[in-house]
Amino acid sequence: MPSPTHGTAAERTAVLEGLAGVVPPRAVSNDDLPAAWDTDDAWVRRRTGIRVRHWVAPGVSTGDLALEAARRALAVAAAAPVRPLGAATTAPVDAVVVATSTPDRPMPAMAPQLAHRLGLGPVAAWDVAAACSGFVYALAGAAGAIGAGIANRVLIVAAEVYSTLIAPDDRGAGVVFADGAGAVVLRRGEQGEPGSVLGFDLGSDGAGHELIEVPGGGALARSAPDRYTPADLHFKMRGRDVFQEAVTHMTLSAQLLLKNVGWSVHDIDRFVAHQANARILNAVAERIPVPSDRQVANIDRVGNTGAASIPLALADAAEHGRLHAGQRVLLTSFGAGLTWGSAALLWPDLAPVPSVHSTDGPPRSR
Ligand code: UT7
Repeated sequence: MPSPTHGTAAERTAVLEGLAGVVPPRAVSNDDLPAAWDTDDAWVRRRTGIRVRHWVAPGVSTGDLALEAARRALAVAAAAPVRPLGAATTAPVDAVVVATSTPDRPMPAMAPQLAHRLGLGPVAAWDVAAACSGFVYALAGAAGAIGAGIANRVLIVAAEVYSTLIAPDDRGAGVVFADGAGAVVLRRGEQGEPGSVLGFDLGSDGAGHELIEVPGGGALARSAPDRYTPADLHFKMRGRDVFQEAVTHMTLSAQLLLKNVGWSVHDIDRFVAHQANARILNAVAERIPVPSDRQVANIDRVGNTGAASIPLALADAAEHGRLHAGQRVLLTSFGAGLTWGSAALLWPDLAPVPSVHSTDGPPRSR
């Protein structure tokens, strides 16, 4: 690990300085969905708010999307108007965290290979598996590492290729889930400066693990293969139950965090929830409550991209001028596990964030 970390606790606040997102070039509209699903544009828009999502081409993996998002976020961080503390480190970052529930392989973790592909040297690198809450969990862990003096600057990448988990006959999960990656860079900074991460609320309830899961592909299936079928390699989701749990836990988690950081609902400038389903987002915003003009949503254009959804929504909002330095931003998420988590931060003074909808798309080499 490069250079020791010094500084007072106040100087070890985690500060956001880089952000980017990427979706694969293949756009799938509701009219493009498989005919066997017997669904239609009106149903999908009404029940999910999704118009189009992006699915990878054959051979493109989570690692490819992660690499592209990471490169872009590092470029934004390098162009940050405020030069960071700890600039003397020998690497652009000294830790890499990947949040995903669709890793390229069961083993090893994805973060070391990503660090290698980025040429970052022998940095600390680890994965976080908290499904759609993965980004908030990874952000909390990285902020903790900075606060504890373990790292000066951390790259966090959240990436999913959920299209590979959709069963050919599952129109429920099929219309919702999609592919994408988002990345941020956190650096050591000072309390209260734009970009400061102010607090977290994290939680879980493993009793609900069967509400949304991929039952096969793990050690259980390998040790008792007769109990599993190839269908177990796909999403199994009790959509309505997940819907209700998502609304309950995102609302409670966001409200708890507001209390902990001393914000009232009127203090929230931007509210960014995991883009699960537009009806879920609206129900959570109504309950907290947050006025609709403070909400950030891009689910209509990208679908539900799991861990990637919050950084993708942030990148989209930044690109469209909806986020400004100093704004108070509340993030909240919910996912398989069950897991949930919220984060509160002050928006940073960021260099321009590139479009998540690039025409060239992610690389396909490995
Ligand atoms: O990322 C975190 C984890 N995931 C989520 O947050 C997803 C949460 N759940 C959802 O978004 C929704 O439950 C779905 C979009 C997956 C499903 O919507 P729903 O309104 O909960 O529908 P449902 O499963 O309760 O089904 C209602 C009806 C059924 O017909 P009947 O039995 O009432 O005649 C389904 O067969 O809608 C039918 N249906 C569809 N019809 C057309 C279900 N999926 C479709 C479809 N197209 N794609």
